Amino acid sequence: MKQARVIGIGSHLPKNILTNKDIEEKCDTTDEWIQKRTGIKSRHIIEPGQGSSDLALPAAQEALEMAGITPEEVDIIVFCTITPDQLAPGSASILQGKLGATNAAAFDVNAACSGFVNGLAVADSLICSGKYNNVLLIGAEVQSNRMLWHNRDTAILFADGAGAMVLTASDSDEDSSQVMTTHLGSDGSSYEILHLPRGGSREIFTMDNFDKDGYKIHMNGTELFKRAVVKFVSVCQEALDATGLTMDDVDLFVPHQANKRIIEAAGQRMGIDPEKVALTIEYTGNTTAASIPIALDHAYKDGRVKKGDIILVAAFGAGLTWASAIIRW
Ligand code: UT7
Repeated sequence: MKQARVIGIGSHLPKNILTNKDIEEKCDTTDEWIQKRTGIKSRHIIEPGQGSSDLALPAAQEALEMAGITPEEVDIIVFCTITPDQLAPGSASILQGKLGATNAAAFDVNAACSGFVNGLAVADSLICSGKYNNVLLIGAEVQSNRMLWHNRDTAILFADGAGAMVLTASDSDEDSSQVMTTHLGSDGSSYEILHLPRGGSREIFTMDNFDKDGYKIHMNGTELFKRAVVKFVSVCQEALDATGLTMDDVDLFVPHQANKRIIEAAGQRMGIDPEKVALTIEYTGNTTAASIPIALDHAYKDGRVKKGDIILVAAFGAGLTWASAIIRW
């Protein structure tokens, strides 16, 4: 029996920084309101013409270097995104070409903000099946060109970035580094709470139906907020129950960085020490599927992740989808 072990992590944020003051010029909001209601001070956005795979490439290279494996040794690339470079092929294939991962299969996972944790569950299963040794898992998004800049609900929140993780197969050993458990859920009956309605198969782009708003994100933020807090708590509890761990055993909690107030409210309900929470939202904004690997990588680089640590990750977002996992580092 094989198990999946994390051996590399990396991230990349584009160099352009957009402050709340810059957002003030685009829509009816203030720096003070954004900081107070979301915890965000600034975010990174791409240069025009860049796609998600461009952000993923340096993150992947960093993660592979840490893992000590070459691109040719990657067996599968799982690319989690709702903003692929283009409608087809998947960004996983585009990244595979850029990286020179000539022996890798490649596919995308679209589960929005829960994408990376869904991808982690897929990577874990691929490795545990015994068929694959090295999986490169990516969370990368370019949200800055998917927003209506005059709509303050989304303009203040979303941003661009990428994170990468390398997982490898090791022989089963209960006490060693491993993905201990993963938990996934969805409620598709409420998908319109957060969605990007046009540009897919139901309403393709034509010059007659062209309506810029339909090609951008639509969100009922307040409804999402309420549901996010509840689901964060329950999906984290599922992961703890499955492993027999308690919140006291958790060394680091890495939540999806949607809104600092969601993270604080869920953290309070779960009784987790705020010192154990990884937070990047202040300078990254909400980078959807990229937010968890970015936050984990930054915590690692800050020396907050040690061998043997118990890391709880959890996400909630469009779909609606939610997910959690526990990793022993
Ligand atoms: O990534 C996963 C998916 N996304 C999320 O999980 C996002 C979840 N939702 C949120 O983060 C929050 O709901 C938002 C940040 C989107 C909105 O914050 P809120 O605390 O839920 O604000 P609200 O919509 O309840 O509005 C509160 C007040 C209202 O004014 P009144 O009626 O109290 O006078 C709004 O008109 O704040 C006003 N308001 C704003 N003011 C300045 C709402 N948005 C803004 C804004 N700037 N951007």
